[in-house]
Amino acid sequence: MRCCGWRTAGWPAAAATPSCSPSPATAGSSPGGWRPAVSETWLDDSARTWRDDRVVAPRVPAELVPPHRGRVGERLRAWQRRHRLRAGRADAYFHSSRAPERGLPVAPASAVTGFVGELLSHRRARVAWLLTLNIAAAVAGLVVPRLLGSLVDRVAAGQTTLATINALVLAVAVVVVVQAVLTFGARFSSTVLGQDVLASARENVVRTVLSLPLSRVESASSGDLVTRVTRDVSAMSNSVQHALPQAVIAAATTVLTIVALCVNNLLLAVPSLLALVLVSFPVRAYLRRAPRGYITEGGTYSRINTTLTETVEGSRTVEALGLRGQRIAAGDDDVAESAQAERYTMSLRNLMFGWIDLAYNTPLVAVLLLGMVGYGQGWVSLGEITTATLYVQALVEPVDRLIANVDRLQVGIASTTRLLGIRQVPQDRTPGDDRPQGVDLVGRDLRFAYREGHDVLHGVSLTLQPGERLAVVGPSGSGKSTLGRLLAGINGPRTGSVTVGGVELTTLPLDLLRTEVALVTQEHHVFVGTVRDNIVLAREDSPDEVVVRALQAVDAWDWVQRLDAGLDTMLGSGHTSLTPAQAQQVALARLVVADPHTLVLDEATSLIDPHTARDVEGSMAGLLANRAVVAIAHRLHTAHDADRIAVVIDGRVVELGSHDELVARDGEYAALWRAWTS
Ligand SMILES: Nc1ncnc2c1ncn2[C@@H]1O[C@H](COP(=O)(O)OP(=O)(O)O)[C@@H](O)[C@H]1O
Ligand SMILES: [Mg+2]
Repeated sequence: MRCCGWRTAGWPAAAATPSCSPSPATAGSSPGGWRPAVSETWLDDSARTWRDDRVVAPRVPAELVPPHRGRVGERLRAWQRRHRLRAGRADAYFHSSRAPERGLPVAPASAVTGFVGELLSHRRARVAWLLTLNIAAAVAGLVVPRLLGSLVDRVAAGQTTLATINALVLAVAVVVVVQAVLTFGARFSSTVLGQDVLASARENVVRTVLSLPLSRVESASSGDLVTRVTRDVSAMSNSVQHALPQAVIAAATTVLTIVALCVNNLLLAVPSLLALVLVSFPVRAYLRRAPRGYITEGGTYSRINTTLTETVEGSRTVEALGLRGQRIAAGDDDVAESAQAERYTMSLRNLMFGWIDLAYNTPLVAVLLLGMVGYGQGWVSLGEITTATLYVQALVEPVDRLIANVDRLQVGIASTTRLLGIRQVPQDRTPGDDRPQGVDLVGRDLRFAYREGHDVLHGVSLTLQPGERLAVVGPSGSGKSTLGRLLAGINGPRTGSVTVGGVELTTLPLDLLRTEVALVTQEHHVFVGTVRDNIVLAREDSPDEVVVRALQAVDAWDWVQRLDAGLDTMLGSGHTSLTPAQAQQVALARLVVADPHTLVLDEATSLIDPHTARDVEGSMAGLLANRAVVAIAHRLHTAHDADRIAVVIDGRVVELGSHDELVARDGEYAALWRAWTS
């Protein structure tokens, strides 16, 4: 029974004829030759690739749900427990996000300084101009209280005339206008600089995303990638454009106000200095915890997007299997988890601002009390008290702005570390200088594992003759697609090598690799653009004759001619939509135009009806004469028409030969062929 087990795993139903006859076939790669039974260990290995033995904890544990009743003290203690638990969850997420098992990592905060520094280093003159304008505007703002203070002193001393008052009022008006102009200039230049930096950052992100190795992009969730390049880019840009300059301005204003306070009267500056020291404690506590909180928040947004994208992409399956309830529940779970992350950062902000609000109001009262005593003792003048009061009040606004913008910066920094995480994805290949001498594709002793310790290929060797058609057949999950990906250089093998013209595929630069070997799978994408644009992607200068010949070869020219504007018809989302079979034909035509010397077709005609598929394969073969083709097939006519056939079962090539040879051998392929044709 065991030896037939694989057939039911995904082989066409008609093929499930019992045929367990051991046959002494010379399997191309299995060192032990034919094995009469598929070992349970192999099956176990493949099946376990997907199994996840970890116990899944509930996404939001009951301890995080607030009690509805209870005395104030109890509720406060419950809140403290929840806050600690949320902090623990944020810490755990933060640590795992550094080097996640799957998906995209998050970069350390130190990388942000380097990144922003690099962005700003090309714009030093403008940064200097921006700072000068801001500092000048802040200084101008400090002159007014000083002028008003001296006015009070003069009035108190009885030294004023109408002319001096007029002169002082005029000076105040001039200073206010100058300050307004400087502030306008500062804001204007910070916006220009911010937009410029944002454009560079976006270009940088797009370049990074485009250079990600395909095998790694596939292991990341698209929802996460999309969240990083949309929400995180805009959070980062918001920070660079608004929060960073605002924080710099607010910090400069705060420092200058303090200096002015000290210059005005040291005694009256003491309350504000003490208040600032007090404020620094909650701010520091906040800064220690907030980055992890915001990174966790970002992670939960990614998860929401991943579930949403999956639901939308799989909407037909959801509909067909009545999975609406499950998808909604998955979305609810994501939102609940995200709400927990938000509650944590909200609590951190509330704790910080609560203390700060207290610290704001005390200095003013203290200055007035100190002023009263000091005036009585003759240590301070009325003018100094006026100036100090105005400064203390003026200090609230920049300190408030500084803290609010430091908070916004934390969001920006967290987003930037998520963005820079994309850059940290290690390359899966290092291009070398060797260039192929010839076109022969040789795979030797190929082993490959998606998860460590679970090989899905067990030492496959295959040599492709130039110009030959090799069909690869076998049950679902036996490793055919994986073999195709290795032969096309998408993934590198764990052991062994795939070489073209004597050079390892994974050491070829990607653009060169694609002119050597190309892979077409069942999955393909129709880009927004004309039919022509979609076909000439790999060779943009191809003339229309080449495009038409390619379309004819894939049996698509008839329907393309019938489209509104023929080759100029717009395709892709929002335009004419193609059936899956037509999209597959477009993908094949693209490949014909790209014209690599070796093609790997992974069930590339599976969506086209069997009759047409056979025609398409025949006419493509004519056009691709002298090209080597590896055709992974689930229809046996493809195997019948091929020069050689490799039968792959559970990660090994168990039979290799021409159709006639394999039928004569009366092994697995022969049994299958009989079932297919009966
Ligand atoms: N991206 C992946 N991550 C983990 N396991 C995978 C992945 N793709 C395929 N596998 C596993 O590898 C084995 C071989 O799969 P595949 O090469 O797709 O087989 P086939 O094309 O013959 O159906 C299967 O057990 C499958 O579950
Ligand atoms: Mg497959």
